[in-house]
Amino acid sequence: MMTEKKKVIIDTDPGIDDSLALMLAGKSNNLDILGVTIAAGNVENQQCTQNALDVLHLIERDDIPVYTGATKPLKREPINARETHGSNGIGNVELEHSKRQAKTGALEFLKTTLEQNPGTTLIALGPLTNIALLLEKYPEVKENIKELVLMGGTYKSHGNCSPVAEFNFWFDPDAAKYVFENLNKPITMTGLDVTRKALLTPNYAKLIKNFDTKLADTIYDMTQFYTDFHWDREGVLGCVINDPLAVAQVIDPSICTGINGNVEIITDGPAIGMSMVDTEGILNKEDNCYILTNCDHKRFFKLFMKTLFPEKEIEIDKILDNELYGN
Ligand code: RIB
Ligand code: CA
Repeated sequence: MMTEKKKVIIDTDPGIDDSLALMLAGKSNNLDILGVTIAAGNVENQQCTQNALDVLHLIERDDIPVYTGATKPLKREPINARETHGSNGIGNVELEHSKRQAKTGALEFLKTTLEQNPGTTLIALGPLTNIALLLEKYPEVKENIKELVLMGGTYKSHGNCSPVAEFNFWFDPDAAKYVFENLNKPITMTGLDVTRKALLTPNYAKLIKNFDTKLADTIYDMTQFYTDFHWDREGVLGCVINDPLAVAQVIDPSICTGINGNVEIITDGPAIGMSMVDTEGILNKEDNCYILTNCDHKRFFKLFMKTLFPEKEIEIDKILDNELYGN
């Protein structure tokens, strides 16, 4: 029996892993993508927007509308992650440019679309600036949000911008704080605890390269810059593809498991951007988040690769089920 597609809106800052997440979402038969909204993050909003348009064009999903949104955090000075994602945000890979333009008015798109589509899932893959601005300007729309599944934060794993802070919450801690305190709908935090298990190893990258399609080559080329960054800066062999895991969790909520707790975002001082997770009720605060702590990474990569390359299902199972490759 065909299950009904989940209605989603994706808020993102493409970004190499955001681009892989858009590919996964755009090629999934399980998601009805109502639109994509852009927040500044990895690179400036204009570049993130162009990257989103070009990635959707690459996977022949020019039907998905793209809206520009926040160009800077609520309060902090803007930064970027060019050293991680390359000067153009997608590993310095030059994609064929989409001929269409993005639309302006992300907040109004979100408001109108949520009003018309109650029960929509928000997927946030970048800083939460757009989501915070939406809730502040149109608080009534939250009733139409089924849940927010985000990539961001960390529970027990070290940060990637400071010992305790992950980039999306570091970039705009005030937005993250506002969302966690005001959404009052289920939030699933796909943090570094689980995304660090979504490690695209050189083996996996080469497997994708061997599929020998334009999409395969693009993924391989995009992730080379990202892989070099991981080796140079973290001594990790491969690259952590954070954002596709959040999308995969929406497609199949059994891929990761977690624990309920209260998440509070620190907005100043040396721990700025920290997601302080209380799963023991120490602060006597209401649970406001489902914090993912375990991930079946093999199931994730099978879903990721089979969704992008359905014609390669046999090869994917053969390699990913072969313990010779350390899987
Ligand atoms: O910390 C990783 C997150 O920050 C990812 O979403 C990456 O794309 C950046 O936005
Ligand atoms: Ca991102």
